[in-house]
Amino acid sequence: MRILTGLQPSGKLHVGNYFGAMEPAVRMQDEGEGFYFIADYHAMTSTQDPAALRESVRELAVDFLACGLDPTRAVFFRQSAVPEVNELAWILSTVCPMGLLEKCHSFKDKVAKGISPNHGLFAYPVLMAADILLYDSNKVPVGKDQKQHLEVTRDLAGKLNEAFGPGTVVVPEPIIREDTAVVIGLDGQKMSKSYHNTLPIFGVEKELKKRLMRIITDSTPVDEPKSVENSVILALYKLFAGADQYAAMVADHERGGVGYGDFKKRLAEAYWEFFAPMRARRDAITADPGYVDEVLQAGEARARQEAAKVLDRVRQAVGLR
Ligand code: ADP
Ligand code: TRP
Repeated sequence: MRILTGLQPSGKLHVGNYFGAMEPAVRMQDEGEGFYFIADYHAMTSTQDPAALRESVRELAVDFLACGLDPTRAVFFRQSAVPEVNELAWILSTVCPMGLLEKCHSFKDKVAKGISPNHGLFAYPVLMAADILLYDSNKVPVGKDQKQHLEVTRDLAGKLNEAFGPGTVVVPEPIIREDTAVVIGLDGQKMSKSYHNTLPIFGVEKELKKRLMRIITDSTPVDEPKSVENSVILALYKLFAGADQYAAMVADHERGGVGYGDFKKRLAEAYWEFFAPMRARRDAITADPGYVDEVLQAGEARARQEAAKVLDRVRQAVGLR
């Protein structure tokens, strides 16, 4: 069974990205043959800064490896290292009705926000379908926001098979992470870099811990019981602390007698400890500058091999060969 997923390079990895995307993806590598890629072509629909693109691709590669992607088990590569994906995207675009793309939420949302859409943004789901179909992927784990794009992928796979014969491409199954809770940010809204409320995973200890002190709390005096329901501190603490530690903090909220400053300190410690193994791995990876390139090159060679097989089959089916 082949499991494939892609992540867009998009700035500093934060706690929301980790629990919402990275951790579930890394966990999947135990369940089949994992294909993981960095969606750099897709990132181009929203950035036109070459240096920033290069930098964020590199950062995401290091983050992925630091968070536990095991390149001896999974195939890890950059999307653009297999440019054949564009040929499949073209073939898919010839069976793709305009209407299918016009109704995509992610496209409509961006237009509604006033972003003037380029063709790349419009065709984004077609390229994503090509990403998936090029590797005969069976399962595609993604977040809820990508559900519709997976429907488009299945739709296009069906159309291709209908037009050119069954088995032209493999129709994939989505694995939608419906249950991944939304991680809240320092201000209590969804954690997102667009809200400037993120807690990054990697960085300088003092600065990162200081960010936690920014969490806004009410003015309940130290002695009095504190609200458990509305506590940003508790919501974050739950992600990092053991069950006992968490229960103890809940009890301290209910009992009163402990101040928010103290809770924040406990949160900062738990957060720092939770990501300690990832930080150590990240340091080791960055200390060996050739390592990431080697991993990506090996992954790319393997991905291309697979892509060539599938593309050959598709070219034959559609009459290009
Ligand atoms: P941001 O909102 O910071 O721009 P992205 O949109 O780049 O983050 O998200 C990348 C991945 O991380 C997506 O799969 C998304 O579902 C996940 N993700 C982002 N923020 C959160 C969050 N607060 N809780 C859970 N998952 C999240
Ligand atoms: N669009 C996805 C996202 O923003 C990233 C992505 C690109 C992807 N191609 C993919 C995910 C193929 C899964 C499969 O999160």
